[in-house]
Amino acid sequence: MNNKTFYITTPIYYPSGNPHLGHSYCTVATDAMARYKRLCGYDVMFLTGTDEHGQKIQTNAQKENLPPQEFVDKLVAEFRNLWSIMDISNDRYIRTTDESHKKSVQKIFQTLYDKGEIYKGIYEGWYCTPCESFFTETQLVDKKCPDCGREVQKAKEEAYFFKLSKYSNKLLNLYEENPEFLMPESRRNEMISFIKNGLSDLCVTRTSFDWGIKVPFDKNHVIYVWLDALTNYITALGYGSDNDEDFKKYWPADVHFVGKEIIRFHAIIWPAILMALELPLPKHIYGHGWLLFGDGTKMSKSKGNVVDPQTLCDRYGVDAVKYFLLREIPFGSDSIFTNEALINRINSDLANDLGNLVSRTTAMVEKYFNGVLPQEIQSESIDDELINMARSLRKNYEDSMESFKFSNALACVFKFISRSNKYIDETMPWALSKDEKNRSRLACVLYNLCESLRIVSILLTPFMPNTTPKIQEQLGITHEMSTWESANEWGVLPRGIKIKKGDVLFPRIDVDKEIAELNDIIK
Ligand code: MSP
Repeated sequence: MNNKTFYITTPIYYPSGNPHLGHSYCTVATDAMARYKRLCGYDVMFLTGTDEHGQKIQTNAQKENLPPQEFVDKLVAEFRNLWSIMDISNDRYIRTTDESHKKSVQKIFQTLYDKGEIYKGIYEGWYCTPCESFFTETQLVDKKCPDCGREVQKAKEEAYFFKLSKYSNKLLNLYEENPEFLMPESRRNEMISFIKNGLSDLCVTRTSFDWGIKVPFDKNHVIYVWLDALTNYITALGYGSDNDEDFKKYWPADVHFVGKEIIRFHAIIWPAILMALELPLPKHIYGHGWLLFGDGTKMSKSKGNVVDPQTLCDRYGVDAVKYFLLREIPFGSDSIFTNEALINRINSDLANDLGNLVSRTTAMVEKYFNGVLPQEIQSESIDDELINMARSLRKNYEDSMESFKFSNALACVFKFISRSNKYIDETMPWALSKDEKNRSRLACVLYNLCESLRIVSILLTPFMPNTTPKIQEQLGITHEMSTWESANEWGVLPRGIKIKKGDVLFPRIDVDKEIAELNDIIK
């Protein structure tokens, strides 16, 4: 049995509209991390899903004249379809409307209530009658409803509260004792000052809408989003059900990837709930940045300026889109998305650097050796730099991956790809080929290139799982030659390997023509 486990999650998305590129971003990063850990030999649990309750979903369903369940079923199918198109390797998909989740949440609510962690009180806030929604003072925009902009009235309702305030010190200790709990480091101070400003108890139920999980002993109350949503990370493993084997096996989570605007819920409310349940805490919460669109605002459904991930995958291929998202944008930072930047990356990194290295190497082995490299090869000192770089590549890549620096990990691999292309220019195989006595030297140069590509193909697998098998097929690389261990070794490809040139991996895109076509689609 494999006892090295790794549990990783995305946030659960609101299916209040179709999935967009912003949603894909976190899922793609989680997918790369999950695939990387599987490559390293871990027993991985990768969870994603949808957060299907609440006022907003109910209102959107009403607008479409659909019962909320039908409304979410339709959108959840869109999410799941996109993940299948994007080759997302999640092991499980949780819906907060799953019966098992609902039952476990009720059990969790009951436990917290019985322990005195949840109590009944009065929720005071501002109420927008048309939207049937409560808002706190700070949520209002110009003292008006943040959703519809109309006047709001002061109102009170009975509600249940979670004793969040009592966890302030414990949370501060958590940050102090585990500096790596919240990553990247820059997010930590913000949380600490938020806690130091004073935490209030958290209202965890509502009576103003009914699309949600009922409080088990007080059916007028619906459990409000965060308690329902955050607990997905444990209910998906069977916590609170008859079968909690997976919970025992995978909890605590190794990392929750979340967008920066929901860090607070994950870094404050979630650990407090877990403390109240006396459960271990996740090892890391990683708050990533936003994909910004055009005018510098977060891309979201309500802004209308959505770049459809499916269209992008159709036009450029899934691997190119995934590569771009993780290479272009440092995971913790915001970045403006433009189609031009995407196309330029595809052309320079994928078509030019990687694609060319593969096609030049395989074409030369075919041309000079009919596809089969001879046994005898002759090394020279000029090879050492390339080989040394190859030998240290996995370590550098691993260091970046372990700290979720996907862009750095990819940069290491592409630096090595450039070095390999430069090695071709330095060794000039075409010149060697002119004289029969250079045959074993020429074989050595080409062998070194094939071996470099073998290592590259292993390390790129978590990011481009459709492309790397194609490279491996051209080079005749078998499963044993593409293991994680073998990415750290030089000379794994047997002498005398047979190479077969394949199709172009990434065709070059004509930027101007492509942008013009994209503009036509947007119109
Ligand atoms: N349902 C809650 C999360 C509950 S997790 C227990 C939620 N849903 S959401 O659909 O609004 O957002 C889900 C995630 O998508 C968030 O992490 C958010 O940051 C991310 N993104 C949505 N738009 C985004 C971008 N434009 N860029 C990057 N990520 C963005 O919040």
